[in-house]
Amino acid sequence: MVLNRKDLLGIEDLSREEIEGIFEVAESMEEILSRTIKKAPTLRGITIANLFFEPSTRTLNSFVLAEKRLSADSFNLSASSSSILKGETLLDTAKNIQAMEVDIVVIRHSVPGSSFYLAKKLSSSVVNAGDGTHEHPTQALLDLMTIRKRFPDFKDLKVAIIGDIEHSRVARSLILGLNKMGASVTVCGPPTLIPKWINTFGVTVTYDITKALPEKHIIYVLRIQKERQEESLFPSMREYIRYYCLTYNRLKEYASPDILIMHPGPMNRGIEIESKVADSEYSLILDQVRTGVAIRMSILYLLSRKKLK
Ligand code: CP
Repeated sequence: MVLNRKDLLGIEDLSREEIEGIFEVAESMEEILSRTIKKAPTLRGITIANLFFEPSTRTLNSFVLAEKRLSADSFNLSASSSSILKGETLLDTAKNIQAMEVDIVVIRHSVPGSSFYLAKKLSSSVVNAGDGTHEHPTQALLDLMTIRKRFPDFKDLKVAIIGDIEHSRVARSLILGLNKMGASVTVCGPPTLIPKWINTFGVTVTYDITKALPEKHIIYVLRIQKERQEESLFPSMREYIRYYCLTYNRLKEYASPDILIMHPGPMNRGIEIESKVADSEYSLILDQVRTGVAIRMSILYLLSRKKLK
């Protein structure tokens, strides 16, 4: 059975078969989303809590939409509107929410491993919507499904990931996913933003964007995560832009003519990516967001199946 698990916590422990199974269900969800009335009763009676203790535009709202499209009951809780501000622990907050007969807890938190911790303590299913710098599995799944629409078997696929790899849960989950699907990955950024653990991930490393761009099918651009840097890890933003910003001119000079561009958002236009690239015919950035709703519908359905019987 596809995704026969209580929780979805990371790409690391998913098999290629499980990932393919999530895509197959997501394709059925895309059919629902293509209808005039984009609603199915699939999750009627299922209750979902979205605990977002870090800001989010895409992930939170696509979970909310996925829940509405499948007729689940759901509510959102943020750090600023919860009793965490009064000193309540994360575990007490989650246990109180579970006591309200919540079936699935979707959590985003700044601490790596926070969703794994809750999954051990709760009988409700837990979905990791981003845990610090560790993993962002639903982002990787929507990225992989976006890629799969153009490269169905991932055969001979070459992807370059450019930017702040060190602080990126998106990069970590995506590299794990691309490795499982058989694609080859190059990472590129300033040496201070390329972590030492990268050597264990079987990727090619370059610090030179002009070497990262040629012969790739996809360039995946990452934001500089200033909020996770305790010290400045490169001399200035101006220097970062000079050496690493994905500009239209660089793309034209070094990348293949049928290159595709991805970015998980939020983008800092003019820093890691030029607007002319983000808004170009090469960009899959909004396709990623669109696919995210179907992926999250798929995951919520697969984790609820036992309760729906
Ligand atoms: N890609 C992503 O996680 O975006 P949000 O932070 O807006 O959810």
